[in-house]
Amino acid sequence: VNIIACIGAGSIGRSWATLFAARGYKARVHDADPRVLESAFGSVRESLMELERADAIESAEECFARVEFVPTLQQAVRGACHVQESIVEDVQAKMSVFATLDELVPADTVLASSTSEIPGSCFMQQLKGRDRCLVAHPVNPPHLIPLVEICPTPSTATRAVMATKQLMIRLGQQPILVTREIGGFILNRLQAAVIGEALHLVGEGFCSVEDLDKAITSGLGRRWASLGPFAAGHLNSDGGYAEYILKFERTLRQLTASLETDYSWDRTLIERIDQSCRELTQRRSIRELQLERDRKLIALRRSLDGPVSES
Ligand SMILES: NC(=O)c1ccc[n+]([C@@H]2O[C@H](COP(=O)([O-])OP(=O)(O)OC[C@H]3O[C@@H](n4cnc5c(N)ncnc54)[C@H](O)[C@@H]3O)[C@@H](O)[C@H]2O)c1
Repeated sequence: VNIIACIGAGSIGRSWATLFAARGYKARVHDADPRVLESAFGSVRESLMELERADAIESAEECFARVEFVPTLQQAVRGACHVQESIVEDVQAKMSVFATLDELVPADTVLASSTSEIPGSCFMQQLKGRDRCLVAHPVNPPHLIPLVEICPTPSTATRAVMATKQLMIRLGQQPILVTREIGGFILNRLQAAVIGEALHLVGEGFCSVEDLDKAITSGLGRRWASLGPFAAGHLNSDGGYAEYILKFERTLRQLTASLETDYSWDRTLIERIDQSCRELTQRRSIRELQLERDRKLIALRRSLDGPVSES
């Protein structure tokens, strides 16, 4: 069975490990902090059991037997066919771990980073093996949300891009290619625009925290769950996308000009939103809410993509 190394076992590393194991790979998990490694053990097992309960995998125990938690980086990467780095979002830390990985790992193995925002060339460019390095940015939690943004640096070889794309497809993920490096890639740039404007709308009293979230969960999120903004626009007018934009152009230009995506929020607003979130979720624990989110994500994925099954 092919081995995939997961470097960093925080929220992303452990979810990658769950995905790799659920899809028939061996996951070798390492974290610099032994306490994190220990909590990842329980968390990967729990997530696999959740997948079993939802009939997305046959046996959580069988999958979990393919996950190994190891105390060193060296042990993690031995014999790995792919290395997925998910350590802290810090360019110096990533530079240092990639330098070590580049020394340890055979030259034909892809070294991929989960970074949310940092273009790979900021920490991969100095490496001897920079042609096998790229960003493979997942969406949290990757074992339930299929998008992966593959973003090569100008030094990444096409074969590394192709190998990563094929691996992600074998894992049941849905990769997209970021054809030019840009901070935040695609998803987080879109998300930042929405979050910035959401802070503005709530911060300036245009609606409540609850209703802002509802505008997404009952409205925009549903529209965009099956059609992106371009495909949705194409269907919004009988004449297709160009006609839609022509009709909508004046409004669209006025609205984009009036957005405050770089709204300057303060701590008081953040505390107020935090309090509202706690009250609206009836002070249930974050872990409990995450498990509920996961169950809904499984149901949503099944309805959009068909059965989620072990390959
Ligand atoms: N959380 C998200 O929503 C999300 C989504 C997509 C991508 N990402 C990216 O994934 C990466 C990890 O994010 P996270 O949310 O899991 O962070 P996290 O803080 O939960 O976990 C990071 C882990 O890395 C470990 N670590 C730090 N330095 C290390 C080293 N040198 N070797 C081994 N382990 C080391 C830490 O002990 C920690 O457990 C970041 O680059 C982040 O930007 C996060």
